[in-house]
Amino acid sequence: MKRTARLSALALLLLAASIAWAGGMTAPSPNGMTIPEGFENWPVISVSHRVDNHTLRVILGNDIAVEAARGGKTDPWPDGAVLAKVVWKERPEEAWPDAIVPDKLVHVEFMHKDAAKYAGNGTGWGWARWLGPELKPYGADVSVENECIDCHVPVEERDWVYTIPARFP
Ligand code: HEC
Repeated sequence: MKRTARLSALALLLLAASIAWAGGMTAPSPNGMTIPEGFENWPVISVSHRVDNHTLRVILGNDIAVEAARGGKTDPWPDGAVLAKVVWKERPEEAWPDAIVPDKLVHVEFMHKDAAKYAGNGTGWGWARWLGPELKPYGADVSVENECIDCHVPVEERDWVYTIPARFP
C-alpha cells in the first residue's frame, strides 16, 4: 500500500514537472504577465540601434499588432495587440568589422494592449520585462511598470509607443 502511494506521488511529481516544462518554465513578471508563447517567430515591425549603450533592438508584434502596424491603424493600437522588444549587446562582425551584429541577449520586454484591463496604470497597456538568456522576471513588485511608463511619457500622444513601423516594400 505504502509503495503504491509513493509511486503515485512520484507519478504526480513527474506530471507536474512535465506541465511546468510545457509551460516554458519561465516565471511570470511581478504583475502576473507571462511571456507570449512563440514570440520569437513574430514578424518584425522595426529595428533600432542604441548608440550610447551599444545595443541592437528588434521590435516584433503579434498578428493583431502587425496588422495594425502595416495598415497604419496605430492611433490607438487595437486591444489584443502585443509588442515585443528584444535587446542584444552589439559586437563587430569578425568577417566584416564595419558591420555590427547581435551578441549576448540583454532582455526581452512586452507591452500588451487592453484598454479596459490595464486602465488602472493610466496607459491601457500591460508592461513586463525578463532579463538575460535565462529570462529572469524584472522588478520586485507591480510598481516596476512605473519605470517603464515614466520613460515612455514623451510618446504618450502616440499611445505610449515609440516605434514607428519601418517601411516595407
Ligand atoms: C530609459 C527609457 C525606457 C525605459 C525605462 C523603458 N523603455 Fe521601453 N522603449 C524605450 C525606447 C526609446 C523605445 C523605442 C525602441 C528603442 O529604441 O529601443 C522603447 C520601446 C519599447 C517597446 C517596443 C514598442 C515601442 O514603444 O516602441 C516595448 C515593448 C517596450 N519599450 C517595453 C518596455 C517595458 C516593459 C519597460 C519596463 C520594464 C520599458 N519599456 C522601459 C525607452 C524605455
